[in-house]
Amino acid sequence: MNKIALGVASSISIYKAADIIRLFQKEDLAVRVIMTEKATRFIQPDFFTALSGEETIVNLFDRRQRPIEHIALADEISLLLIAPATANIIAKLASGLADDFLSTFYLAVKSPVLIAPAMNEAMFLHPQTQANIKKLRDNGVEFVEPEAGYLACGQTGGGRLASPEKIVQTSLRLIRRQPVFKDKLIVVTAGPTRESLDPVRFLSNRSSGKMGYELARQAYQLGAEVVLIKGPVELEPPTGVKVETVVSSEEMRQAVFKYYDQASVVIMSAAVSDFRFRQTSLKKIRKEKLTLNLELERTPDILEELGHLKRGQLLVGFAAETADLKTRASDKMKRKKLDLIVANDVSREDIGFGRDENEVYLFWPDGRERLIGKTSKRKVSQEILTEIGAMLNERKGNN
Ligand code: C5P
Repeated sequence: MNKIALGVASSISIYKAADIIRLFQKEDLAVRVIMTEKATRFIQPDFFTALSGEETIVNLFDRRQRPIEHIALADEISLLLIAPATANIIAKLASGLADDFLSTFYLAVKSPVLIAPAMNEAMFLHPQTQANIKKLRDNGVEFVEPEAGYLACGQTGGGRLASPEKIVQTSLRLIRRQPVFKDKLIVVTAGPTRESLDPVRFLSNRSSGKMGYELARQAYQLGAEVVLIKGPVELEPPTGVKVETVVSSEEMRQAVFKYYDQASVVIMSAAVSDFRFRQTSLKKIRKEKLTLNLELERTPDILEELGHLKRGQLLVGFAAETADLKTRASDKMKRKKLDLIVANDVSREDIGFGRDENEVYLFWPDGRERLIGKTSKRKVSQEILTEIGAMLNERKGNN
């Protein structure tokens, strides 16, 4: 099912519901908006109708709806999200009151329910509101915690609606989670590493980190616990993912090993520098003192080390090649004892480094291969993780 029901209540943060709708639409999900009567004092239902392309629902007895709309709609959705949710709607849902469309609909819904509260901090922290939230949690309802920040009442406090991005990412996790990823730790590395010569000069590469970030985001959506170990790139960190920032390949190595024992899957999508300076300086080296031939040495191959110390972890490597894709990628897979290698042709300008799109080949140790044709890095990541999910399931079946 590709439809979300979005309940909006009468909070000043109601305007953020527009961004929430847009973000769902980008994920190919349709949104049906349900407003409380009081919410219509802030925004007209037509606004959400225009944005969502579907008639906004407010009243239970609306002639434009199907005769028993709350039951019919409940069967069509994969999630009921209420954002923003006021203290009043939370109290109503907690007590099972059904006196308008949204509260009646809640009782008919069988899919997951997610609530994003927005209210003054004192109201949110009031024991009654907290008791209502607990009751709903006990009934399986999930919450996106409000954040600290500026509130409409002029105060700064902890009742502000979570960001649309966070709300949508949490929603996607509820819709897309798969049992095989539950309680599994997936470690993803992303971006370049930077090998310093001195405090101002370094050796690095053109990796943007986009592929690794997408992999981390998609792994979270599938229900995994995710640690993203990233080199120096400044991308928006994915919701729900633990981010560790490193600079050099040695730092990346240490960060990966910190999680290796607990990890079920390690995806090394970082472009780890292959070389570093043999000699480095803590102070800037004066131009006159620099020789024209700087000596380099190989960095430790993290993936190869992981491969040799593997104890049940599923290891995924990346290979960026300019020729002989299959042979070179397969050699790497064997040498590093990988379970899957993702290979792309970095000589192409339209895909790969820095781009939003990619085209990759997947190779497995048993000789199987698959092409994921040119598409967004988001879609490529989804496909890669689908394959990883299948491999995890297969392992479970074999044990
Ligand atoms: O051998 P090559 O560098 O092409 O292999 C690429 C793969 O190995 C990538 O998955 C990359 O993250 C990993 N790698 C590594 N440590 C290095 C170099 C590459 O883990 N020093």
